[in-house]
Amino acid sequence: MKNFYRTAFSLVLGLFAASAFAQDFDAIVEDCNGCHGDDGVSQWTDMPTIAGMPEFVHADALFIYLDEARPCEKSEYRQGDTSRPAKTMCEVVAELDEGTLEDLAAYYFELPFVPAKQDFDPALAEAGKAVHDNLCEKCHSDAGTNPDDEAGILGGQWMGYMERTMAEYLAGEREQPKQMEEKMNELSDDDVKALLHFYAAQQ
Ligand code: HEC
Ligand code: HEC
Repeated sequence: MKNFYRTAFSLVLGLFAASAFAQDFDAIVEDCNGCHGDDGVSQWTDMPTIAGMPEFVHADALFIYLDEARPCEKSEYRQGDTSRPAKTMCEVVAELDEGTLEDLAAYYFELPFVPAKQDFDPALAEAGKAVHDNLCEKCHSDAGTNPDDEAGILGGQWMGYMERTMAEYLAGEREQPKQMEEKMNELSDDDVKALLHFYAAQQ
């Protein structure tokens, strides 16, 4: 009987801990989605979709924000309670512990990436394909849509976000793999523009 009570008690405790955790995690995800969109799929060109992001790349990005080693600008909440004060990604991750950051990366990897429905110029996209195939496809295969590459998703990501990200790399404000930097340095302004239309065309 004593054993029975002990087991029942620890079961109840366990359930309580599990539901408290679930509530916390749900609230955190809700906060992420307030900016990134339902299920991590963005509706706004300056906001990246984070659903389906390779788990390692996602966790790595969050840890880089934790070190404030990547530009992070203040952003307004896009949905839900939009009166919440604007925040940077660096501020967002500073409120969370490292285990939670890893759990978030794993959680969003399970959600389907939805390519952004956006306008693009077909002639520029065609020119961009040549640049991509020559310099980027080696690491960003299938037009930058293959999550197994562990190199982020480029094809179908929003053009506004991609444009800012490319500018940050080219200005040396965001760290990049050495071999990628060599390829980036070969790009003309026209190449960059063409690449943006090529990635936007992957719908
Ligand atoms: C207040 C708005 C806001 C909130 C809340 C927010 N983000 Fe972000 N996030 C952004 C913006 C804007 C960017 C684009 C890059 C930048 O400005 O730093 C971004 C970028 C990212 C990136 C980088 C994407 C890439 O392809 O490299 C990841 C990963 C990310 N956010 C995950 C999260 C997670 C997980 C949460 C919840 C814990 C979250 N974000 C909460 C606004 C937000
Ligand atoms: C040697 C392999 C390699 C090559 C070549 C390469 N990349 Fe990358 N790229 C990566 C890796 C790994 C990441 C993820 C790590 C990071 O964010 O620094 C990445 C990340 C990116 C991102 C950020 C995605 C995001 O979600 O924010 C962009 C944009 C990008 N690459 C564009 C390019 C373009 C354009 C080219 C060709 C001119 C290129 N890369 C060539 C390996 C490569």
